[in-house]
Amino acid sequence: MKVKTMQASRTIQASLVQPSDTNYHGTIFGGSMMAFIDEVAAISAMRHSRRPVVTASIDSIDFLSPVKMGHSICLEAFVSSTGRTSMEVFVKVISENLQTGERALTATSFLTFVALDEQGNPTEVPAVVPETEEEKRLMASAEERKKMRKERKENSKAFISNLTIEKMI
Ligand SMILES: CC(C)(COP(=O)(O)OP(=O)(O)OC[C@H]1O[C@@H](n2cnc3c(N)ncnc32)[C@H](O)[C@@H]1OP(=O)(O)O)[C@@H](O)C(=O)NCCC(=O)NCCS
Repeated sequence: MKVKTMQASRTIQASLVQPSDTNYHGTIFGGSMMAFIDEVAAISAMRHSRRPVVTASIDSIDFLSPVKMGHSICLEAFVSSTGRTSMEVFVKVISENLQTGERALTATSFLTFVALDEQGNPTEVPAVVPETEEEKRLMASAEERKKMRKERKENSKAFISNLTIEKMI
C-alpha cells in the first residue's frame, strides 16, 4: 500500500462568520463550528484516501476562544495517522479580526474517518508519513489517542447495550 505525506492531505478552508452561524451572544454557534470542522476534515480524509469516507467518531472539540460575527475563521486539516481503513484527522481553527488582523487559535479537534469501497465496506488506506516537527509530534502521540478511542468504544458498547429504542413520545 502506498505511503503519502501529511502535506498531501492538507486542506485549508476560510469562511466569514455570518449572522446565520452565530448564537444570541453574537459569537459563532458551537454546532456551526462543528459542521465547518467535520467538512474540512472529510475533504482532507478523501484527499488522502481518494475514497468516499464517513465520520466514525470525533474525539473532542476544544473551543478555546469565541469568534465574533464578521470575523473570519481559517481551518487547517490533515491526516495525522492511519490504521488499516481508518484515518485520524487533526483540525486547527484560527480566527481573525479582519479589521485589526489579530489572530487567535480558537479550536482544535481530532476526528476519525473510515474509507469505503464501492460496496460501502471499510477499505484500506495509504499509510502516512510526517515531515515537520508538528507532524512528527502528532504522529508520536497518535497511538495513545487510538488506545483511548478503543477503550471509549468498548465502554460505549456496554452502555448502549442497556439503552432502549422504544418510542420517546
Ligand atoms: C464507521 C463504520 C464504517 C465502522 O464500521 P465497523 O463495522 O465498525 O467497521 P470495522 O470494525 O471494520 O472498523 C473499521 C475501522 O473503523 C475504526 N472505527 C470503528 N469505529 C470507530 C470509532 N467509534 N472511532 C474510531 N475508529 C473507529 C476501526 O478501528 C477500524 O479501523 P482500522 O481499519 O484502521 O483498524 C460504521 O460504524 C459506520 O458506518 N458508522 C456510521 C458512520 C456515519 O454515518 N457517520 C456520520 C455521517 S458521515
